[in-house]
Amino acid sequence: MTSPAPAQPRILSGMQPTSDSLHLGNYLGALVNWVGLQEDFDAYYFVADLHALTVPTDPADITRRSRVTAAQYIAGGVDPERSAIFCQSHVREHTELMWVLACQTAFGEASRMTQFKDKTARGHNANVGLFTYPILMAADILVYDAARVPVGDDQRQHLEITRDLAERFNTRFGDTLVVPEPHILKESARIMDLQEPTAKMSKSGSSDKGLISMLDEPKRIAKKIRSAVTDADGEIRFDAEAKPGVANLLSIHSALSGTPIPQLEAGFAGRGYGDLKQEVADVVVTAIEPYQQRMAELMDDPGELDNILAKGAARASEVAAATRDRVYERVGLLAAQR
Ligand code: TRP
Repeated sequence: MTSPAPAQPRILSGMQPTSDSLHLGNYLGALVNWVGLQEDFDAYYFVADLHALTVPTDPADITRRSRVTAAQYIAGGVDPERSAIFCQSHVREHTELMWVLACQTAFGEASRMTQFKDKTARGHNANVGLFTYPILMAADILVYDAARVPVGDDQRQHLEITRDLAERFNTRFGDTLVVPEPHILKESARIMDLQEPTAKMSKSGSSDKGLISMLDEPKRIAKKIRSAVTDADGEIRFDAEAKPGVANLLSIHSALSGTPIPQLEAGFAGRGYGDLKQEVADVVVTAIEPYQQRMAELMDDPGELDNILAKGAARASEVAAATRDRVYERVGLLAAQR
């Protein structure tokens, strides 16, 4: 039997601590959704620090970025009083469950994961951790009996293997794990690279000029927006095909100001790109300022942040330990006398 259902269905998601700042695309694509979901769900948001070890990284970077990533969840509006915020490595049940799941995963099945195939095809010198990445991710999810997992479309295959593993486990050992529903985040706004507006905004994009980092200096943000690529026709209307640069600026404005795009088009009728860029820069800077202020407070007080992470981990461990015990028992491991 699975544990009694929580009052609200549980959701879980995580980001890897692989950068020193989220960018506007991460913020609007993921974090804003996470914040909204905590109203209706019992939410668990973690820093996937163990996943970040799958590519060689400087230890000091992992440490710093783990704090930064957790702080950005909070600065973006995840409420630690309501949602559990924690580091994956602080809840050992993730890796404990992972081992059992690894022993239920066919070698060929793991070999078919596209993210692994893509990385190795690009000449990445892959380690075994990268190979088992999806199994750790499945454990992250299943250890919380998560009903839903809000992630971007690029994680779809990982959710499928998670569901397969849960179903397989339940078939072999009896009903034990909750099979999660995917909750693929529909991008309210597709945020594109400012310099190359046909590509999604991404850390690995064209250049730093194309990317708005949530922790960029406001002046730098305004400058990047002023030098965003547009087109020669001079008319401000939303046409992602023919006018990707202008469409992107309108999307960013609309996502942050809440003004519907047709209303923006009407307001900008007869005006030039300079005006549009100035207004978008103002909207972005206004939205980002309180976020940056909260970030600075959190980073100034690492003790308080570590406290929040400790509380989150304690809350997470309670749920995770119960699942681990259930799973260990089902596969026949002799119960430890604790
Ligand atoms: N693989 C996810 C990413 O790179 C991060 C992640 C790890 C995750 N474990 C997870 C997301 C569990 C959701 C649920 O974006």
